[in-house]
Amino acid sequence: MPQKKLIDYDHSLMRPDRHGAGGDEERQLLHLMGMARDTLSRQRQEGSVGFFSIPERRQELRAAEKLAADIAKKFKTLIVIGIGGSDLGARALYRALKRPGKGMDLAFIGANTDPEEIADLLRRVDLKSSVLNIISKSGDTIEPMSTFLLLRQRLIKAVGLKKHRQQVIATTDEAKGTLRQIAGREGYRTLPVPADIGGRFSALTTVGLFPAACAGIPIKELIAGAKEVRDAFFGQPPDKNMPLLFAGLHYEAYVRRTQHISVLMPYADGLKEFGAWFRQLWAESLGKKHDRRGKIVFHGLTPVAALGATDQHSQIQLYNEGPLDKIVTFLEVGSFRDVFIVPDAYPDIEGTTYMAGHSFEEIIHAERRATALALAKNGRPSGTLLIPAITSRAIGGLMLFFQLATAAMGELLDIDVYDQPGVEEGKKAMYAILGRRGYKLDSERRSG
Ligand code: PA5
Repeated sequence: MPQKKLIDYDHSLMRPDRHGAGGDEERQLLHLMGMARDTLSRQRQEGSVGFFSIPERRQELRAAEKLAADIAKKFKTLIVIGIGGSDLGARALYRALKRPGKGMDLAFIGANTDPEEIADLLRRVDLKSSVLNIISKSGDTIEPMSTFLLLRQRLIKAVGLKKHRQQVIATTDEAKGTLRQIAGREGYRTLPVPADIGGRFSALTTVGLFPAACAGIPIKELIAGAKEVRDAFFGQPPDKNMPLLFAGLHYEAYVRRTQHISVLMPYADGLKEFGAWFRQLWAESLGKKHDRRGKIVFHGLTPVAALGATDQHSQIQLYNEGPLDKIVTFLEVGSFRDVFIVPDAYPDIEGTTYMAGHSFEEIIHAERRATALALAKNGRPSGTLLIPAITSRAIGGLMLFFQLATAAMGELLDIDVYDQPGVEEGKKAMYAILGRRGYKLDSERRSG
């Protein structure tokens, strides 16, 4: 039967140790989930969580569309320079949704300071027909900013100082930061990163929407999917509410069964980068030393990005027989955009005839199902998120799904999911090592 919902969540195997529903624990969990959702609803009314209103931010969407249409007419490649939340969303969208022959090519760089990667990019792209999209909310992050300075220099060499200004677009904070300062001085075109939406929640703002639009991805559809999921989240009761159930069941596994490793395993190569995007969202948002009252809690669920069926031959032995510390979520795509059937090449060889006549889609679904059943047999929890197909609508919906689930986890664990003091710590130490004025290593401070 064709799937009606944009996203469905089959959680029937999430408690393989428990038979039958109900009981005090179940009621208690639903109560906690309800309270978490009420708090998020209040935050939505107060307007204190920026990403809840992504579907209503039409102005930013239009700005991204308009600028993308303009540069796509004149240039072949968009070089996206960013890291973390300013990189992973666009990569996930591009890998999942780019179709051959449509839109500009995207090339990604700036997520590391590996000189060999830069050399490889410079060999692959022609700067004369490329636009640099430097994305940094703070405008201060060393990996993308240093890469940008280098590529800008090469671009000037290729097209001249005056012309290069038409080939740089800065996506950054509207008012402050080093990149904003540079963009103002050079007269680069800019796109604003909303001040109230943090990096890993910004994939569906100008940060991800502009590169996606350049690549010919229908970004209105992404937002339509996000809206559908957001509206359902704030409208449905806890026991029918998919992102809330996802959070609640992970919370239960974490606190009651100390299962602290969350594996996301899409069965589709196009969703591989989506796994990397989820990994950052879950890790940076939930890995926290303090709760919101300042108590030391050392919370966190370690995300693992796996890929089905490939990792059945790499990870599944560990998931089936290793420590009971994992919760696996499969991502299943109902129907794929291409169809192939296994040919009946050797009708007399049983080792091939059993697969002959089956479509590759049938085989990948069978592999997912078989893995879920094997995990359940071994007492390992798993859930499956189902999307009908890899469409812009479904991917936009999935992004909001995981962002809402992360926000709900924050409420259940009573932690701030929007800050990242552990990342800032490292950034400051690196500034000190590289001699940025005003920064000192703690050891230098102590001895000095
Ligand atoms: O989620 C986050 O806040 C981080 O991962 C940031 O996106 C990352 O550090 C890049 O920051 P910026 O966009 O300021 O360069």
